[in-house]
Amino acid sequence: MLTLTALVAFTSTTFAIPLSALNPRQPAPSTYSWSVINWSAGCARAGCYYDFNITGPCTSNIPSFSAYCSGNDVGYYVACSINDDGPDTRGVAASLLPREQNTEGGARISVSFRYSEVDVPSTYYNYSGSAVSSFNQFVAPLQNFTITPTEVFGVA
Ligand SMILES: *[C@@H]1O[C@H](CO)[C@@H](O)[C@H](O)[C@H]1NC(C)=O
Ligand SMILES: *[C@@H]1O[C@H](CO)[C@@H](O)[C@H](O)[C@H]1NC(C)=O
Ligand SMILES: *[C@@H]1O[C@H](CO)[C@@H](O)[C@H](O)[C@H]1NC(C)=O
Ligand SMILES: *[C@@H]1O[C@H](CO)[C@@H](O)[C@H](O)[C@H]1NC(C)=O
Repeated sequence: MLTLTALVAFTSTTFAIPLSALNPRQPAPSTYSWSVINWSAGCARAGCYYDFNITGPCTSNIPSFSAYCSGNDVGYYVACSINDDGPDTRGVAASLLPREQNTEGGARISVSFRYSEVDVPSTYYNYSGSAVSSFNQFVAPLQNFTITPTEVFGVA
């Protein structure tokens, strides 16, 4: 098996590359992003927590998804539940930056979307990106925003 590991990582403080260059085998349009809908997050003595829906559009190469994510600021990715009836070759996971590591204020949420090519189950691609939202629970309405993936790795 050919193992292609295309790891392209950058942050806004380094440089930007076109989304289409993230993964030449499965290029994403430059406008590709995910929509977070009905974001809610808050903190209690035990830690902070999040709750939201997220959708990703279908492109010529990347399948769409709709998922519900909720969890605590454990510091690692926790699976979201897919709430569409598309193929089960897709997975979505989210991670809220723990409060004690949070130096930027706000709520930094990272999301990853992993899928296999339906006809080649041994392959997979894992896209991830993050955004800073807020701890709006009880103080502000549910929020919508987008997350643009900035990293991808794959095994083909
Ligand atoms: C978002 O929340 C609104 C108001 O509660 C609800 O009507 C709508 O169905 C929700 N949409 C999604 C995609 O979660
Ligand atoms: C997320 O979407 C599901 C399915 O559309 C809906 O039942 C649920 O209420 C939504 N959750 C939020 C937080 O809006
Ligand atoms: C994507 O890869 C990261 C790093 O290995 C992993 O933590 C995450 O769970 C993966 N995402 C999915 C949806 O499997
Ligand atoms: C967020 O998006 C959902 C679905 O498109 C919509 O029902 C809701 O009104 C939006 N909420 C805000 C605050 O714009």
